[in-house]
Amino acid sequence: MFKQTLLIIAASLLLSACGKGGISDFSAPENTPVAQVFKEGCVRCHGSDGGGMLFGLMFALEPQGKSATELATTILSGREKMPAFAALSEKQRMALANHILALRNTEAK
Ligand code: HEC
Repeated sequence: MFKQTLLIIAASLLLSACGKGGISDFSAPENTPVAQVFKEGCVRCHGSDGGGMLFGLMFALEPQGKSATELATTILSGREKMPAFAALSEKQRMALANHILALRNTEAK
């Protein structure tokens, strides 16, 4: 029983870590600073500066020209390999969207 539970946990961790899109149950307390939410939920795919993995070959965020609302909708619904983060609050998704815009705009300077 215990072993099975561990197996299930390991399997779901693996699945969420290598990312097949789908639905993420990642959540954070409402008052968590957005940078920390990003770090815990998004960095493993998007990198700490949003520039993606493997030197930007994978999952780089290119939010320039998009509105925070548009990005927040993608965070809510997911897209292709981007999981849907429906367990985060609307406020958190908007904060993440603005965080991403800030991250990527700073880098482009
Ligand atoms: C499993 C890997 C993975 C995780 C974890 C992940 N993303 Fe993504 N994300 C992607 C991929 C892949 C795309 C590109 C989707 C596509 O092909 O359209 C993407 C796209 C996006 C976009 C759309 C960018 C645009 O230009 O429209 C936003 C915004 C975004 N992610 C935010 C986040 C946030 C915020 C988190 C954390 C809460 C997060 N992502 C976690 C893989 C991931």
